[in-house]
Order: sequence, then C-alpha cells, then structure tokens
Amino acid sequence: MSEWQKSSWRSKPRVQMPDYTDAARLNAVEAQLAKYPPLVFAGEARSLKAKLGAASRGEAFLLQGGDCAESFAEFSADNIRDTFKVMLQMAMVLTYGAKVPVVKVGRMAGQFAKPRSAPVEVKDGVELPSYRGDIINELDFTPEARIPAPEKMLQAYTQAAATLNLLRAFSKGGFADVHRVHAWTLGFTDGDEAEKYRDIAGRIQDTLDFMAAAGMTAATNSELGTVDFYTSHEALLLEYEEALTRVDSTSGQTIAGSGHLIWIGDRTRQPDGAHVEFCRGVANPIGLKCGPSTTAEDLKVLMAKLNPENEAGRLTLIARFGAGSVGEHLPRLIKTVQEEGANVLWSCDPMHGNTIKSSTGYKTRPFESVLREVREFFQVHAAEGTIPGGVHFEMTGQDVTECTGGVRAVTDEDLSDRYHTACDPRLNASQSLELAFLVAEELSARRQSAAQAAVG
Ligand code: PEP
Ligand code: CO
Repeated sequence: MSEWQKSSWRSKPRVQMPDYTDAARLNAVEAQLAKYPPLVFAGEARSLKAKLGAASRGEAFLLQGGDCAESFAEFSADNIRDTFKVMLQMAMVLTYGAKVPVVKVGRMAGQFAKPRSAPVEVKDGVELPSYRGDIINELDFTPEARIPAPEKMLQAYTQAAATLNLLRAFSKGGFADVHRVHAWTLGFTDGDEAEKYRDIAGRIQDTLDFMAAAGMTAATNSELGTVDFYTSHEALLLEYEEALTRVDSTSGQTIAGSGHLIWIGDRTRQPDGAHVEFCRGVANPIGLKCGPSTTAEDLKVLMAKLNPENEAGRLTLIARFGAGSVGEHLPRLIKTVQEEGANVLWSCDPMHGNTIKSSTGYKTRPFESVLREVREFFQVHAAEGTIPGGVHFEMTGQDVTECTGGVRAVTDEDLSDRYHTACDPRLNASQSLELAFLVAEELSARRQSAAQAAVG
C-alpha cells in the first residue's frame, strides 16, 4: 500500500462530494480551518477506542445516536440538551439491563454532510442538484441555495465547537450526575415507557441512597457525578476532514480532529476510493456501514486496510440491512470476520435499511421495522455465538413526528404535524426510550443465557 498522507485521498476516485467551482475560495477556507484548534484530542480518541474494544468483547455496550443531519437552523442549546437527556435516559435503561457500562457517542458536533441516493431532485418538473447537508449547500429549493459554498465549512466548525463545548459542560458539570436520574425525563414522554423509566430511576435512586449511607457519593466517587460523552459523524466531506487533521504532539499519532469516531457510509466504502483512503490513516476509532451490497471480498479488503494491526476498538461494523434481511446478510459477513480472525465491534443501525415513503408522501420509518431489525440482529448473534456490541440510531430529544408507530402511535397522517428533519426521519424521545427498553431486554436475556451456559 502506498504511503498515507492526510491529502492522499485526493488522488483516489471520490463519490458523493461536491464540486466546488471556485478553487481560490475553497483554498482560503481550508487554510483557515487548518489554523483552527482541533475539536477533539488524541487521548480522548484513544480512550474511546479502549471502550469500544471492551464493547467488542461484551464488556461494554455502544449507544450511538443523534440527528441524521445537524442543521444550522435547528441549532440551539435546548435541542442539544434534550438529545443529550434522552441519550442519558437510554444509557441508564441499557446499563440496567446489560449490567455493563454503556459507551455514549453522539451523532453530534460534526454530523453535517449527507450522501444522497440521487444527485438531483425534481419538484414540479424543476430539476436542481440535491441538498447535501448544511456544511455543503442549502435545503431551499432554489438554484442559488443548491450551489455548494465552501464557507459553510467554517459555520459548521463553529457550530460543532459550540455544541461540543456544551456537551462537555453537560457531561462534567453536574447535569449528568446519576443522582439527577429523575430529572432527565422530558415533559412529553408520558407513555408506558416513561412509567417504566420512572420505575428504574426509582430503583437507581434507592441504590444511590444505600451507597451514600455506605459513604459513596459523587464527591467520593467521581464516576457517579460525570459521564464520558463522545462525538461522531460520517467523514464525507474530506476537505473539512483533512483541514482538521492534526499530529498529536505526545504520541506522534495522526488524528482526525473533527470528532472522536468517524464513519464511512454505505455509499462511500469503495475499497480503492477516497473515503477509505482518508480514514485508514487516522488513529481515531472508525465505523464502517455494512449494507446488503457489502460483499465478503470487499469486507476483507476493507478490514485489512482500515485495521491492519487488528486492534480491538479500532473498527466498528455498523450493520444496516433492513428488517427481514438481517438473516440473509449478517451471518455471511460474520463468517468473513471470523475467517479473517478480525477484531471488530458489531453495531446495529436499524434506521437506514427501513426508510420508506408514507401514504402521505413523507419519507418515514415504521417503528415496527426498526424494532424488528434490532431483534433480528440479536437473534443472529445469538445463533452465531458472536457479540452484539452496540446500536446506532437517528433520534432526537424533540417531540417530532417523523417515524410512524410507537406506543404513542404516530400515523401516516400525523407525519406532517412536526416533521422537522432536514434529511432522514428520526425517532422521537418516547420512541427512543421504547427502543432502549427493547434493547435492554435483549441484552438481559443474553446475559442470563450466558450465565446459564456457564453454570450448566
Ligand atoms: C447515515 O448514517 O446518515 C447514512 C447515510 O447511512 P448509510 O451510509 O448507512 O446509508
Ligand atoms: Co440518515
């Protein structure tokens, strides 16, 4: 393999990236970004990698979630806080069921660029280039809005920095203290799952009271008062990624400074393509989406390129096959991983294989299909004797109506009520919590059957 440089992706075939027409403007933005501080640091990426390694062995569990696409218009402290709250609630539910630490990774602080299935969008006979995320162009359906503007990278960087600053404050500044387990509830989550959450929160509170009586409080045990929260996004816009790449002065490692974990999408995982080339050279944990078209041959090459040292925690395979298709594809890819003796963490993205158009014309995801894909993921791993190590959701703390179904059933007709996503439909707060309970049940069943196997 030829030598890697942060710019070596430039000589490889690229897909899903904008053609910026003004090279001088683009270069000026890249030069500016290259001077800015990185958003994340090598030591943090290393600690996340160690935790993902633990998840790959079943000693932890990955919860990755957030917007499909972060947007400039929806940027607010309240939105960040509410998504963070739901993730804390989900993590509590999962920890309670799995009895292992939950590794929390947001699709946040950098999740701006979107691959699209079609390069153009047609509305009432008018054809325009597709919207590719706020870091590239604008959602408005006008020719001007769809022109890619490099300066948007600077705005995305600023928003990511402010988002991460707030997340760091929430994580370490008292908000995430487990003693506040009751306070993370959101006003509008009032279904069964909210009741079940209050029940768990009550039991956790009891345990905390007991621990306090025994002398263990947030003051004596800092793990009770803070959480580690990491960021992630799809490394799609490689000019942005390259400009934020830094060499860590203590370890000499090259790190993508744009987020802790970066992933390669299902549409950009060509083994000889630009995205794989960029990601193979940075030391961050890397995610790789695996869809129905992922072949064994490609996966072999990709694992060798992306994790040549076979490090635990370096590579997360994010399975996104669609409900009803997991049984067809996951076993064959698990077999490939086993044949190669590769260390990977298996995570389940039950969103991207289950997108449909509703009868009312909205892009949606039936909650039933999402649940079904998660169940199938666990079933296959149980049958194969391998480890289901994480989940990957598109979700928000807002009370949106974007996915149909759930306990507080959203119907096709309801979708227009509060459909706010700039891209794919997200689970709302109560659907997210409901899903966390399902995953927790699966994890606790797994734990019990492992315990029985150990005894029997
Ligand atoms: C995404 O995660 O938003 C995405 C586009 O996923 P995929 O590459 O799996 O389609
Ligand atoms: Co998406």
